Amino acid sequence: MQKIAPQIMSLIDKYAEFLPVTLHTPIVSLGEGNTPLVAASALPKKLGYPSLKLYFKLEGLNPTGSFKDRGMTLAVSKAVEEKASAVICASTGNTSASAAAFATKAGLACFVLLPHGYVALGKVAQAIHYGAKLVQIEGNFDRALELVKEIGDKCAVTIVNSINPYRLEGQKTAAFEVIEQLGEAPDYLCIPVGNAGNISAYRRGFKLFHEIGRVPSAPKMHGFEAEGSAAIVQGKPIENPETIATAIRIGNPASWKEAEAAALDSGGKIDSVTDEEILDAYKLLGSSEGIFCEPSSAASVAGLIKHLKAGLIPAEASAVCVLTGNGLKDPETPQKINKVDLNPVEANLDALRKVMGI
Ligand code: F0G
Repeated sequence: MQKIAPQIMSLIDKYAEFLPVTLHTPIVSLGEGNTPLVAASALPKKLGYPSLKLYFKLEGLNPTGSFKDRGMTLAVSKAVEEKASAVICASTGNTSASAAAFATKAGLACFVLLPHGYVALGKVAQAIHYGAKLVQIEGNFDRALELVKEIGDKCAVTIVNSINPYRLEGQKTAAFEVIEQLGEAPDYLCIPVGNAGNISAYRRGFKLFHEIGRVPSAPKMHGFEAEGSAAIVQGKPIENPETIATAIRIGNPASWKEAEAAALDSGGKIDSVTDEEILDAYKLLGSSEGIFCEPSSAASVAGLIKHLKAGLIPAEASAVCVLTGNGLKDPETPQKINKVDLNPVEANLDALRKVMGI
């Protein structure tokens, strides 16, 4: 007898009881969520903390390669439910890739505003490929977001940045998954902070599962801004944010207050890491764990290392580092930061053995 293919559940279907949806919400899904939580192998020992129970949440394995898909499935589904015809966002790259893909899936138009010269190659390619109307502005992300808010006020377009209330609601599902995959809440969650939405969303998710009794505790939230863009750490907006981690090159985070509360209420901390620390962690993930994430994502691991050294995270703790985006989006950085000889060698055995040293 022919088998009937099992119904594949969307993220919204799976967690509908915790999300602002009804039976009538048209679900726009690309197969987001359910990303792997992978235990670290070599890194804890290599760092000198062999008892550390370290896990990586691989959000780069979402359909457009970042965690943004969790919020975008909900934001675009609600936009369709509310009869929108177009969506718009400002972005350092990942939001625009996700918005473009989900808008196309839903048959909506999509406008994206990007800070010219500061978006990784793969992300620009995605927005083009998914058919968004792409506008690069002579200004940074913060300026692009201001403009998007103005357009949203004056024109019939739905904003799908994280100021859209549905975005963070969708993103909180990542916390549910971490709990389900570990069987408990970790002691610590380490996460990059840019516009500060994701740390806020995780806190919502952990807090909810704690409050309804799924877990006896919630993790301490440790968020990490890039030092050159560390508005929350410095307590004031940064007019000209700078960092190699372009995805988090943001000087006036939209979810500033909620992120601060997330860290404070959970007993955690928002701190900053330098570009050097970010790149060291980025390289370590590749060379010790076989993981290729974006430089910005590695801020979570850079921060974990910083807080282990400072004694803010105990050596025997369990910690999840959120790796927010896929390294393939940014194919230029590895070649820039590693000394590799890419010149061709003669195609014969002797020449090969010489360069391989065997
Ligand atoms: N990591 C990656 C790879 C990101 O793309 C972002 C944000 C963050 C971390 C920070 O998350 O903003 O919720 O604190 N990217 C946004 C964008 C700003 O436009 O794609 P956050």
